[in-house]
Amino acid sequence: MQSDIDRAHYQRLANKYDENWAYSPEFMRWMTENLRKRLSLIPGSSRVLDVGSGTGLYARGIAEQAGVVVCADLSAAMLEQLPADERLIPLVAGAEELAGGEIRLPHDSYDAILMKEVIHHVAHPPQVLDGMSRLLPPGGRILVAMLPSEIGYPLFDAALELFRERQPAPEDIADALGRAGLRTELTYDEFPLVFTLDRYTQMVRNRYMSMLASFDDNEIDAGISEIRRTHPGPEVRFPDRFAFVLGVKA
Ligand SMILES: C[S@@+](CC[C@H](N)C(=O)[O-])C[C@H]1O[C@@H](n2cnc3c(N)ncnc32)[C@H](O)[C@@H]1O
Repeated sequence: MQSDIDRAHYQRLANKYDENWAYSPEFMRWMTENLRKRLSLIPGSSRVLDVGSGTGLYARGIAEQAGVVVCADLSAAMLEQLPADERLIPLVAGAEELAGGEIRLPHDSYDAILMKEVIHHVAHPPQVLDGMSRLLPPGGRILVAMLPSEIGYPLFDAALELFRERQPAPEDIADALGRAGLRTELTYDEFPLVFTLDRYTQMVRNRYMSMLASFDDNEIDAGISEIRRTHPGPEVRFPDRFAFVLGVKA
């Protein structure tokens, strides 16, 4: 099952995840601010559910502006990297189980639900988003932060092709939230990233994006040679463009 493959991928990646994904303090601040402003948190009192929280890279900054953040993730190894903070509550659970009410959450409802870079892993997103929306009180919001279907990353062609095949379209996610009865808004923001070619190719070798786990070591080596040919370096620069799909319950 794809969920078993994803779980194995993140178990392997867990202790390298922040090194590959935190990018820079500026990127983290930019992304955290983008999430916070869309989640409309009430300082000290909002209850947040971060589904697919991973190591809590963003739950940490959100917790500073909320009361509590339940960090739910399929991977126990990712959750083990959460910092010790009484506002962060780890929960090993899949989005599908939470949406289906199969796993008991610590609270009956959440003012805000965040799903950042996890929707592409979820089986049947419309069903899961419908289930999640039932956890919101009136005025509650769900934010799906995701990459668009086309990305300008300096990857090799086969990786970009696989990404296009697997990535759901933000418009479809907005439709699904609308069908779940939420008022929706789809916005985009981007951040200019720059890495040395050596760091970027190391991230590719670490399979920093989950779809890179579908390539074996020889394919990754060939992919890195292709990246070095098409991007002679010493740096790679590209915009990291994100779709933010917001649903608000009436
Ligand atoms: C790309 S990481 C994103 C982590 C975090 N949201 C962030 O932005 O740093 C994807 C996370 O989703 C988790 N995940 C994958 N499939 C999931 C599912 N079906 N339900 C819950 N979490 C899942 C993985 O274990 C991983 O921690």
